[in-house]
Amino acid sequence: MKVITTIKEMQAEMLKQKDMGKSIGFVPTMGFLHEGHLTLMRKARQENDIVTISIFVNPIQFGPNEDYETYPRDFEKDQELAMGENVDFLFYPSVEEMYPNPSTIKVIVQERTNVLCGKSRPGHFDGVATVLTKLFHIALPTRAYFGKKDAQQVAVIQGLISDFNFPIELVPVDIVREEDGLAKSSRNVKLLPDERKQAPTLYKSLEMAQDMIEKGERDPLKIISLVKETIENETNSVIDYVEVYSYPGLDPLEKLEGSIIIALAVKFSMVRLIDNVILEIK
Ligand code: PAJ
Repeated sequence: MKVITTIKEMQAEMLKQKDMGKSIGFVPTMGFLHEGHLTLMRKARQENDIVTISIFVNPIQFGPNEDYETYPRDFEKDQELAMGENVDFLFYPSVEEMYPNPSTIKVIVQERTNVLCGKSRPGHFDGVATVLTKLFHIALPTRAYFGKKDAQQVAVIQGLISDFNFPIELVPVDIVREEDGLAKSSRNVKLLPDERKQAPTLYKSLEMAQDMIEKGERDPLKIISLVKETIENETNSVIDYVEVYSYPGLDPLEKLEGSIIIALAVKFSMVRLIDNVILEIK
């Protein structure tokens, strides 16, 4: 595995691979790698000649009161984990390398951001779309792999790729969970012991909602109430949102039908967690 820290070298290396006719599978991450990230890498490994990942905690996608400074980082361990997945190239730029001057252009996401995390984290998806525009030009991927844990991110990136005509196939990957159902996240280490015990309730509440839908419930408000009540009764977290939309359009629904997402975000004392389920309703 080759670790590259400059944009110039990375682009040159990726161009070389492209010229040799190699397909490039790309997994952008912010590091502190876990089984979720590694699953994306495995999928990329199966489907491409070359696997490139990036590790970059992107400051412009964090709000002023968010956890940029305290976001967990462990580059040594990440390197070992990536090597274990037979990653070919690891792009690990500094903030100065990615943002050397005050930027002249920023990508603004127009649709699908007035709901879910877009509403609670103003500017977040502009930061994600801007860094990915840069990373796509640097890593020149054939396919790019994203987890459905960040389902709104997947919807936004699909828009970015199609609106800006990136010749890239987006591959969404299912959520990887702990045995007790908690969605794997780099941020889970910030849960206090008691909170860690309560956190599986997030997924449990989504499973209960799914059950209710399977039994015939089609009213989104009833589903939202069930999820909220379960979380309020069984955890000390504060609910940021529990919402139901069409997916990937993220349009409001009066009645549940077609492809839908039930998504939630809650705040524990040191950390905000998200989770969701995407369902096909006949
Ligand atoms: P990060 O949170 O590090 O996640 C990198 C990728 O791993 C994302 O596509 C995310 O959805 C996926 N992922 C995280 N946890 C997962 C899980 N439990 N199961 C499946 N996939 C999971 O998302 C970002 O970084 C950043 O916003 C980024 C896209 C790198 C832009 O800065």
